[in-house]
Amino acid sequence: MKTLIIANWKMNPISLSEAKRIFNAIEKGAKKFNKEKEVVICPPAIYLFSLAKKQIKLGGQNTFYEDTGAFTGETSPAMLKESKCQYVIVGHSERRGYFNETDEIVNKKIKSVIAKKMTPILCVGETSKEREQGKTKEVLKRQVLAALKTVSVQKVKESGLCVAYEPIWAIGTGNACPTTEAQTIGILLQKIISQKYSRPISENMRFLYGGSVNSKNAKEFIEEAKFQGLLIGGASLKPTEFTRIIRTV
Ligand code: PGA
Repeated sequence: MKTLIIANWKMNPISLSEAKRIFNAIEKGAKKFNKEKEVVICPPAIYLFSLAKKQIKLGGQNTFYEDTGAFTGETSPAMLKESKCQYVIVGHSERRGYFNETDEIVNKKIKSVIAKKMTPILCVGETSKEREQGKTKEVLKRQVLAALKTVSVQKVKESGLCVAYEPIWAIGTGNACPTTEAQTIGILLQKIISQKYSRPISENMRFLYGGSVNSKNAKEFIEEAKFQGLLIGGASLKPTEFTRIIRTV
């Protein structure tokens, strides 16, 4: 199983020329590691077509769940597919928080991404308040099970669906989740998947960690906390730092 390293650029950068510059620099830096690691860049949707001719794989940061129609402002799974996306991030906490995405919406999006033969990256994570109240496990279980409601074993297998643990309190704060805590959560997520589907499904699934990953802590999440990939925000816009992460894990 290749380690999956996903760059989530969020709403950055503000020009196509800058996006190309960052993309090209990452492409150059990542080239050597092609065999052991899978690198995916998720730029803002408006840049996708301009970056689609490159070597590195592309992903969407979000999608709507209908393929076409009167949904002003939305981007559909069919359009992402057309722009060469192979992955789509679904249910990122910024989508859930700022854009009121519910578990039901996340579930619809997961299904629509799978229907277009792309790989969903399902994001789950608790707030700092939920963590303090000891509700982390309960929240994660609810999010995972709701997102995968009526998604068959076959679809999970075929799509290569990944689950990313992104504690909200760790995103963009410089305060990554302690490795031992992350490992416990990784085991919990595996167990949830194993109970819903089967052990082989959970063993073949890639679980990712995201939240203030940098070149200094990246390795811990793979080697100690046993995640099979990383979802990286801030550091993925800095080609040197991002390449360093790819190299170290
Ligand atoms: P961060 O973001 O690496 O900037 O903390 C991670 C994410 O939101 O995916």
